[in-house]
Amino acid sequence: MIRSQPVLETARNEPLWTATAKLPKFTRLTKNVQADVCIVGAGIAGLSCGYLLMKAGKSVVILDDGPIASGMTSVTTAHLANAIDDRFYEMERLHGEFGSRMAAESHTAAINRIEAISKLEEIDCDFTRLDGYLFLSPGEPEEILDRELAAAHRAGLTDVEKMSRMPWDFYDAGPCLRFPNQGQFHPLKYLSGLAKVIKRGGGRIYTESHADRIEGGAKATVQVGERTVTADAVIVATNSPINDLVAIHTKQAPYMTYVIGARIPRGSVPPALYWDTGPESTQGREAPYHYIRLQRAPGRRAHEYLIVGGEDHKSGQADDTQERHRRLEEWTRNRFPMMEEVEFVWAGQVMETIDGVAFIGRNPLDADNVYVVTGDSGMGMTHGTIAGILLTDLIVGRDNPWAKLYDPTRKTVRAFGTFAKEAINMAAQYTDWVTGGDVSGVEEIGLDQGAVLRRGLRKVAIYRDEQGAMHERSAVCNHLGCIVHWNTAEKTWDCPCHGSRFDKHGKVINGPANDDLAPVEPPSAESNG
Ligand code: FES
Repeated sequence: MIRSQPVLETARNEPLWTATAKLPKFTRLTKNVQADVCIVGAGIAGLSCGYLLMKAGKSVVILDDGPIASGMTSVTTAHLANAIDDRFYEMERLHGEFGSRMAAESHTAAINRIEAISKLEEIDCDFTRLDGYLFLSPGEPEEILDRELAAAHRAGLTDVEKMSRMPWDFYDAGPCLRFPNQGQFHPLKYLSGLAKVIKRGGGRIYTESHADRIEGGAKATVQVGERTVTADAVIVATNSPINDLVAIHTKQAPYMTYVIGARIPRGSVPPALYWDTGPESTQGREAPYHYIRLQRAPGRRAHEYLIVGGEDHKSGQADDTQERHRRLEEWTRNRFPMMEEVEFVWAGQVMETIDGVAFIGRNPLDADNVYVVTGDSGMGMTHGTIAGILLTDLIVGRDNPWAKLYDPTRKTVRAFGTFAKEAINMAAQYTDWVTGGDVSGVEEIGLDQGAVLRRGLRKVAIYRDEQGAMHERSAVCNHLGCIVHWNTAEKTWDCPCHGSRFDKHGKVINGPANDDLAPVEPPSAESNG
C-alpha cells in the first residue's frame, strides 16, 4: 500500500507567497482578437514582456491556461541576484570573459528594472536591497571562493569582496564572498501589481485559456480552442516551451527543488541572501546545495520567516518529498538555532540549461516572429525580467548586447559533457517501457494516491481518489513518449525526461507536453496480454 507519510505534520503544503498575496482575476478568451504581440504564459517572464512591450507602444494579449502567476513563479524563493548560480568561473569557461560580463550586466539590469518598475508603478511588493553571501559547504576548499572572486571581478562586479566569516554570530560557516546590492521581493505581489498596470494600460490578459497551437509566419496565430489570436509576433513564456518538440529540450533538463518556510524571531538573522557552494565535485544540481532568505510575516511584529531551499533532484526520478523537506529542516536547525516551527513546505521545478544561461530569443526551427524564453537555471526572477528587456528590444528592432549570450540557437561546445550526461540520463528513462509497474494491482494504491500499473503492453497511470474511485489515464507522456511517475507529496504525474507535469487527473500543468494524458479504455476492454 502506498501511503503519504507527512513528516512535518504542522506545515502547510503551500508556498508562502500564495498564502500572503491576492492576485487579480481575469476571464477566459471568448472571441477572436488581434494584437501586435501575443504572449503565452502569465508568469514573471510573460508579464515582464507584456509590461515592457506595452511601454514601448505595442498592443499585447497575454494568455495563460490557469490564473496568472500560477506556474513556477508561485513556487520560487525570489532571490534577485547577479551572483550567477553556476559561478562566474564557469560562465567564463563556457561563454568567455565577454559572455560572463554580459551575464553579470544583464542580471544587474534586471534587479534595477524590477526596482524601477515597482517604484514607478507604486507596486508594494516588499522589494528590498541587501547583500548576498556565498559560503562553503562542509569539505569544500576555500580556493573555490578565491577563483569565484577573481572571475566576478573580471565580469565587472568589482565590489564583490571576500570576508573571513559570515555575518552570523550563531554559526561559524567560515569564509565567504559578499555580493553587494542584490535584491528580494514578494513575487506574487509584484506580478499582481504588474498585471493591474498592464490592464490599466490597455493590455488584455485572458486566463483559463490554453494555447493549443502556435504558428509563426506573416501573421502569427495562437489557437485557443475555437478562438484565434492573431499577432505580428508571439512570445512563448511557458517555463518549458510548448511549441518546440525537440530543439531546446535536448539542451536543458528539469530538476525538482524543495523549500521550507520556518518562523524565526524577527531580527535574529541578518537580512541577506545566502547560498552555499554545494559539493563542487558533483556536477549539475543533484547536490545538497542550499539557498536562504528572509521574508516578513504579515500581521506579526515579533516574527518573520526563514526560507530555505535545496535538496534538488532530476524531476520524476525520486519520490521522497517528505524526506527531502525533513533533511532541509534538519540542515537548517543545525545552523539556525533560533528556528521555531516550519509553517510552509513546497517544491518547484528548475529548468537547468547545459551551459547555465537561459534561452531567450527567436525560437529555433521556427518563423522569425516566434520568440521563446525558457531555461531559468535557478535564476527565474532575473532571467524572466531579462526576457522582458531583451525580447522587447528584438521585437521593436533595437540592438541588445545580451542577444548572443541568450540566443536559443547557440551551441556551447564546452558544455558537451553536460549535454551528453543529460542525454544519457534521458535515454535511460525509456527503459520504463519494459519494466513492471509501481504496483501489481489497484488494491495496492492508497486513498488520494496514484501509481503506474502495467496492463499488458500498456502502462496506465491510476489515481485513486479520497472516496476510493479509480481514475485512469495513459502513463505515456504525450511530449516524446516517456512514462510518467507519481509524485506522492505533490500529487502530480511527473515526466522524468523533459519535465512535463500533469495533475492527478492527467491535466497538463507544465510543458513541454501541451495535452493532457490520454484517456484509456476501461480495463474490461483491454487485452490481458
Ligand atoms: Fe518529454 Fe515527457 S516531457 S517525454
